[in-house]
Amino acid sequence: MTDTISTSPQVTAPSAAWMRVFALVYDSFLWLGEIVGMRSRRRTLLADARGQVVEIGAGTGLNAAHYPDRIAELILTEPDASMRRRLERRLRRTGRTARIVDAPAERLPLDDGSVDTVVSTLVLCTVDDPERTLSEIARVLRQDGQLLFVEHVRASSRFLAACQDYLFRPWRAFAGGCWCNRRTVEMMRACGFIVDADDAVWRGMPAIVHPIVIGRATPRQVVSSP
Ligand SMILES: C[S@@+](CC[C@H](N)C(=O)[O-])C[C@H]1O[C@@H](n2cnc3c(N)ncnc32)[C@H](O)[C@@H]1O
Repeated sequence: MTDTISTSPQVTAPSAAWMRVFALVYDSFLWLGEIVGMRSRRRTLLADARGQVVEIGAGTGLNAAHYPDRIAELILTEPDASMRRRLERRLRRTGRTARIVDAPAERLPLDDGSVDTVVSTLVLCTVDDPERTLSEIARVLRQDGQLLFVEHVRASSRFLAACQDYLFRPWRAFAGGCWCNRRTVEMMRACGFIVDADDAVWRGMPAIVHPIVIGRATPRQVVSSP
């Protein structure tokens, strides 16, 4: 396993049949992790959402209940049909108003500089092209816009990072295309974001996804010469 930050084209994507099963078991698989910490992390993170908000890869909608009522509009993007069905159901159940959009994060059907807050929770590990996703996020954000994120990342412990590399393929096949060993913060910086992040542990989940980062990233301003 190479220690790269980019997506390798040789790695095959999980089958459509398994993606349906994954959507079905997703909430149950995360249940313990949500109870012992992730739910309150979502709530704390999303308290800072403001204005026009776009969540990428919204999945089954585990964030939906945590958005403050004062935000102007909530757009939930999700490219997987099985996840989207669950997301629609959750919105109906909770009464949360949001627009659901079928789109990958690499190609957001949104105007340049039209969004105040982009939210990514456990998604930059899964997108096919993280660099393209980050440049798309930078494109849609307003000048003072922010990316709020919780992402699991490559471990700083050499032992755990080696386990992530070793288990990368079976984990990716099981976890809907997730890369357990991505250097997400480094990628954000390489894509021009200023990153303010805390490290934490995703308790209640397998050790290879324990290392998480939580924070805010802002696109670096381009200063034009006079
Ligand atoms: C691990 S789940 C996270 C779901 C949700 N954000 C959460 O916090 O529970 C990853 C999600 O990313 C979605 N996804 C996969 N590829 C994507 C892409 N290229 N663009 C946007 N979302 C993607 C998957 O369909 C899935 O819903």
